[in-house]
Amino acid sequence: MPARGDYIAAIDIGTTKVSTFIGFVKKNNVIEIKGYGTTECRGMKKGLVVDINEATKSILNSVSLAEKSTNLFIDSAYIGLTGKHISFLNNWTELNISSPGKIIRKSDIDRLISNANKVNLSSEHYILHTLIKQFSIDDEKEIMDPLGLSTDKLAVELLIIYGSITPIKNVINSVKAANIEIEDIILEALASGEAVLTPEEKSSGVIMLDIGGGTTDVAIYRNKKMIFTYCLPVGGDLITNDISIGLNIPFAKAEEIKKKFANLDHNFYETLNKINMGDLKLDKNKAALNIRLYSIVSDRVKELLSLVKEKIEAYGFLNAIPCGIVITGGTSNLKGINALSESIFNMPARTGIPVDIEGPSEAISNPAYSTAAGLLKYANQIKNFIDLGQFGDRKQKSRSFAGRFRDFILKVLRSSNLD
Ligand SMILES: Nc1ncnc2c1ncn2[C@@H]1O[C@H](COP(=O)(O)OP(=O)(O)OP(=O)(O)O)[C@@H](O)[C@H]1O
Ligand SMILES: [Mg+2]
Repeated sequence: MPARGDYIAAIDIGTTKVSTFIGFVKKNNVIEIKGYGTTECRGMKKGLVVDINEATKSILNSVSLAEKSTNLFIDSAYIGLTGKHISFLNNWTELNISSPGKIIRKSDIDRLISNANKVNLSSEHYILHTLIKQFSIDDEKEIMDPLGLSTDKLAVELLIIYGSITPIKNVINSVKAANIEIEDIILEALASGEAVLTPEEKSSGVIMLDIGGGTTDVAIYRNKKMIFTYCLPVGGDLITNDISIGLNIPFAKAEEIKKKFANLDHNFYETLNKINMGDLKLDKNKAALNIRLYSIVSDRVKELLSLVKEKIEAYGFLNAIPCGIVITGGTSNLKGINALSESIFNMPARTGIPVDIEGPSEAISNPAYSTAAGLLKYANQIKNFIDLGQFGDRKQKSRSFAGRFRDFILKVLRSSNLD
């Protein structure tokens, strides 16, 4: 019988759905998803809570489904967070090494990271993650593990990811109102990246796009580290909205048409007339309708991808990405999106589904669940100090805010049936 601490719960509060995943950490540290619950999410827009009561109800529904599917009771969980308020900064901090022989000790690294964490952000902001990008010794950069090396001056570069207090508080309050204690808040881009990227991709250089309903989360990795993140407040809902307006049909119908028929493939365009949309009982000329659908969807997706590309280019990160783009999130199900991304970014693209995680096939094969699966994986790494190759000193995070975050402690899942 597994110990209680071996279970982890995670809640991905997305714009279109809330997914609660309950994972069990196996002896080999692989996570098995024991059960999950997904419900439509109300009260969220572009990754932000716009109606706490509705968001709380959706969280409660999703948690209750996950509990039923496992016979486990969730009283605390890891929570995903996104939104355009998320930002990051890079911060270099130095330390003179004074030990005999100038050998870098663990205590030096700890002190340096502790100093580096003391970043002055305005009181409007809250630090979500401090991730180590690289060390340098005597101005030689890209040192990954300085322990035991000899130098006069050790420096570290941290990627500090932060967000605005108000939208974070709204997420916290909607989770608290559902009587769930928050173990920690994890950036959704980091969770999705953790779920779908291979170690090789993270090491060589890769762009991860999680295109959901209301947001597109971007994470870029190089040398095993996340080096850039960005949230574009645009996702698949805008495509549906355009279809709804363009074809003058209700949103729900437009959503159904998008999922069934939308296709960005050029070859598809050639054969549009042959597609039968008759079962949707739209009183329109079939061929004209198909062509209209194609142009609405491709215009919107091209625009979305171009905005992401421009942003990455502006930060100078579009070069040295040999592993190309990995696209996940519900909108990665859009047919032809990989080919279109390849032509826009001029690099290879593939669909990202969770890797190195076990569970029901729907939970691990649908890219819409990458964030939830990734939250479990990332949470397990935090809990067990498994080397993500990138941890700063999360213990330095302010404990006063929200008061209930418990970094590095085992979560408790009260269970009526632990077998
Ligand atoms: N087969 C499909 N073809 C096209 N789009 C799809 C398909 N399946 C799902 N989608 C779209 O995926 C989007 C939902 O994705 P996802 O579940 O990842 O979003 P979310 O996590 O709720 O939102 P966000 O992450 O933006 O806050 C919706 O816009 C939906 O229409
Ligand atoms: Mg999402």
